[in-house]
Amino acid sequence: MHNDIDHVLLDEGTILRRLDGMARDITRDYEGRMPTIVCILHGGIILMADLLRRVELPLLIETISVSSYHGGVESSGVITFHQKGLPDLKGKHVILLDDILDTGRTLAAISRRFTEEAGAASVKLCVLLRKVKDRACAVEADYVGFDIGDEFVVGYGLDYQGQYRNLPYIGVLKPEAISRLA
Ligand code: XMP
Repeated sequence: MHNDIDHVLLDEGTILRRLDGMARDITRDYEGRMPTIVCILHGGIILMADLLRRVELPLLIETISVSSYHGGVESSGVITFHQKGLPDLKGKHVILLDDILDTGRTLAAISRRFTEEAGAASVKLCVLLRKVKDRACAVEADYVGFDIGDEFVVGYGLDYQGQYRNLPYIGVLKPEAISRLA
C-alpha cells in the first residue's frame, strides 16, 4: 500500500495537530448548543473519528452516503444519494463533515437539501482539505484543515477505487498505481 505512494503531502502528526485547532474552534462556536454532525460516507469517516473525539460538547452524529467520483480520479459531476430519506434535522444546528472540498458539488447539493427539505436551523461545512481552484459550485467551508493544490490525493479517508482510505496520511499516488487499478 505505502509503495504506491509517490509522496506524502500531510503526515499524521501534522493532521492531528491541525484537528486540535479545528476542534477548539467548533467547541467555542457551538458552546451552549448541541450540534448534529453529519458525516459524508465514506470519505469523512477517519476525520469524524479523530475530530469529534477532540470536540468538548454534547453532540449528535448522523451519516449520509453519496458519491460523485464513481471510481475515477475526476468528479463525474453527478451527485448520487444512496439512501431515500434524509436524517431528521428539523431545527437542528448541523455541521456537515467531508474529507475534501473539490468542485463543491457534493457539499452544495447536500447542504441545499438539509436546509430546504430537512429544515435544518443552520448548516456549516467542515472539511479536512480544500483544493485551491475555481469551483463548479460557489461553496465556502466554515472549518478547513488545509488548503492543497488541485491534484488527486488519497489516504485519511480518501480513496482510489475504494482503496487507501486507511493510510494515516494524505499522499499522492504514483501514476503506475493509478493505471494498475484503473
Ligand atoms: P466535490 O467535487 O463534489 O468532491 O467537491 C467531493 C468528493 O469528491 C471526492 N474527491 C476526492 N477523492 N481524492 C479522492 O480520493 C481527491 O483528490 C478527491 N477530490 C474529490 C471526495 O469523495 C469528496 O467527498
